[in-house]
Amino acid sequence: MNAIVDVRDLRKTHGRGPLAAQALRGVTFSVGAGTLTAITGPSGCGKSTLLSVLAGLDAADSGYANVGGVNLTAASARELTLYRRRQVGVVFQAYNLLPSLTAAENVEAGLEFLSLSIAEKQRRAREALSWVDLDGLADRFPAQLSGGQQQRVAIARAIAREPALLLADEPTGNLDRDASARILEVLWNLTRHLGCTCIMVTHDLELAGACDRTIRLSDGAVVLAADESGVRHRHRSGVALQAAAEQAWARAGHR
Ligand SMILES: Nc1ncnc2c1ncn2[C@@H]1O[C@H](COP(=O)(O)OP(=O)(O)O)[C@@H](O)[C@H]1O
Ligand SMILES: [Mg+2]
Repeated sequence: MNAIVDVRDLRKTHGRGPLAAQALRGVTFSVGAGTLTAITGPSGCGKSTLLSVLAGLDAADSGYANVGGVNLTAASARELTLYRRRQVGVVFQAYNLLPSLTAAENVEAGLEFLSLSIAEKQRRAREALSWVDLDGLADRFPAQLSGGQQQRVAIARAIAREPALLLADEPTGNLDRDASARILEVLWNLTRHLGCTCIMVTHDLELAGACDRTIRLSDGAVVLAADESGVRHRHRSGVALQAAAEQAWARAGHR
């Protein structure tokens, strides 16, 4: 496997003293380039902490985390800033769009730190909106979009910089089944057709079953790292979701 994410014995405690919370107690796994991985596990088991470390937003206490050749656990503040700007995209359960900007402008805002011309930013924003199947809605404001559409704008904003890794922390947490399936379609097609690697935290076992792989956390450690075939056999509906994703991509006329 050509691993793009390599995590070994990662440990992280939030706070100190009697209130200290050991969020990661030695997490080890790796993720192949161009794959879609689900992370599942009960509330409080460390999923968001793990994603924060991989996003370069939070520092681990010990262990090793390498993403695309960047050693996050040894990187300087400057290297982490560049990593966050260029190599990783993050989406959360809350869409965090700026209400006074259109969908296209929100995506352009994600390109702020890249030295690109305005025309190039606009072109990239339109292209990213097309990847998430929102071509026709680029000029709408967030309030004029459904929750699922807003989340797809947030995904477009995260991927417009063409990061190697996209991290999604419960991206469908506020969405109904159909809107969740659309998000899965988008993530699946980003990995299959655009070469992005995606790690998604989800409580939805059907969505997890449509991913290449599920990593299950419990109490700050990996308790199951099921491979592709194992997961697909257990969740037949996941296979149907994947087929729907491929069809949607073809319908949208992408390459
Ligand atoms: N910023 C923080 N300060 C203190 N404790 C935290 C903080 N973030 C998370 N925790 C604690 O760390 C543990 C793991 O949290 P989290 O990573 O958010 O889990 P999950 O995303 O799986 O629900 C929990 O016990 C949580 O209360
Ligand atoms: Mg969480």
